Amino acid sequence: MSESERIKELQEEIETLRTAFDSSYDGIHILDSKGDTLYFNKACERIEGLTYEDARRKNIRDLVKEGIYSESVTLKVLETKKACSIVQKVKNGNVVLATGTPIFKNGKIDKVIVNSRDITELNNLRQQLIEKEKLTEKYKEELRILRNESLKDSHFIVNSQEMKKIEALCSTVAKVDSTVLITGESGVGKGMISKYIHNKSSRRDAPFIKVDCSAIPPNLFESEVFGYEKGAFTGAEKSGKIGYLELANGGTVFLDEIGDLPIHMQPKLLRAIQDREVVRVGGNEVIKIDVRFIAATNRDLKRMVEENKFREDLYYRLNVVPIHIPPLRDRKEDIIPLIKDIASKINDKYDMNKIISKDTIEIMMKYDWPGNVRELENVVERMIVTGEDCLSILKDKIDENVKIADYRNY
Ligand SMILES: Nc1ncnc2c1ncn2[C@@H]1O[C@H](COP(=O)(O)OP(=O)(O)OP(=O)(O)O)[C@@H](O)[C@H]1O
Ligand SMILES: [Mg+2]
Repeated sequence: MSESERIKELQEEIETLRTAFDSSYDGIHILDSKGDTLYFNKACERIEGLTYEDARRKNIRDLVKEGIYSESVTLKVLETKKACSIVQKVKNGNVVLATGTPIFKNGKIDKVIVNSRDITELNNLRQQLIEKEKLTEKYKEELRILRNESLKDSHFIVNSQEMKKIEALCSTVAKVDSTVLITGESGVGKGMISKYIHNKSSRRDAPFIKVDCSAIPPNLFESEVFGYEKGAFTGAEKSGKIGYLELANGGTVFLDEIGDLPIHMQPKLLRAIQDREVVRVGGNEVIKIDVRFIAATNRDLKRMVEENKFREDLYYRLNVVPIHIPPLRDRKEDIIPLIKDIASKINDKYDMNKIISKDTIEIMMKYDWPGNVRELENVVERMIVTGEDCLSILKDKIDENVKIADYRNY
């Protein structure tokens, strides 16, 4: 190879290297042993916010003095004679990971090669991740508290024959996954029974999620219960949202006030119960769920079916094991144990020690409790807390004087 050919080849090689250096995404900064710049690629301008001319004109010590760099990896390399890395914030606000490597000649440092990488975005992402993790922890904790709150309920008082039969039936159905339909007047303990079944089942450590069909606005029902994919509708959370049914995976879904389920949602819920599958709003992926369904209502679902207000197929899907809880007036043997339990709870709560008199209990045994156990709880709490007597609390409900007299003579 002739001399000129050799020079041409070298020039081509230099050209290739220069192109490679200039198009490198990372910054490459080459300095001599005094800290003067020999080479500074385009990425350095972007990352460090410094022009090539500035870097050429000034020694690295001046750049540090002027605050362009908070510290210098080059000076560290010159000092320690070893490769080292630092993370620093440069004047334009970027966070940069800079690694300096010494090049030796005759045992002395001849050059320092600094490779710099912009980790601002990485740092931001890391920060976002930390925040998201914190948020997830917070939600997990909230969920844990909510679950415990709803499950730690008072003990289940059972004394009457009717309730003993119900308790036995609950223990039996707790062992299987059959859908249960609990009916009964308001306040008889439908919510309580549903938790009792869950707590007795093998799903007890998994979520118990209550879907109150009367409380969720009909237009939000589908997205709340089935969840939605991102961008499913305006106002939706950006990332999409998991629905109650998926949230309950492994556990129990309690469909409270099922009689109030919006009619347009009935086919979709039927599919979820029948096939244990959900499709989120705006999505098309079929998601398998492993849940047990318990529904409750104080309405006459059979009649609603006859009046075409409730789908017949859904009714039969729900009514696999019916549990009807009789009103308190039809199982008066439960009243005294309930009063005792409620009174001791209230006394504990307010650090009191009040006793319900025998006379009062007799009156309470005679009353027909249209609001069932909930009403009984309210009356007992009011008596203990305010000291009012039972008849004055109930007088609006026992509106005829004759009746009051009747209670007094009891
Ligand atoms: N057998 C029972 N033992 C102890 N507490 C009971 C019992 N039955 C009901 N309760 C209590 O009575 C209150 C009402 O019960 P619950 O909310 O379960 O009734 P519900 O039938 O779901 O009423 P609604 O139809 O109004 O939703 C609750 O505070 C519950 O803890
Ligand atoms: Mg209820």
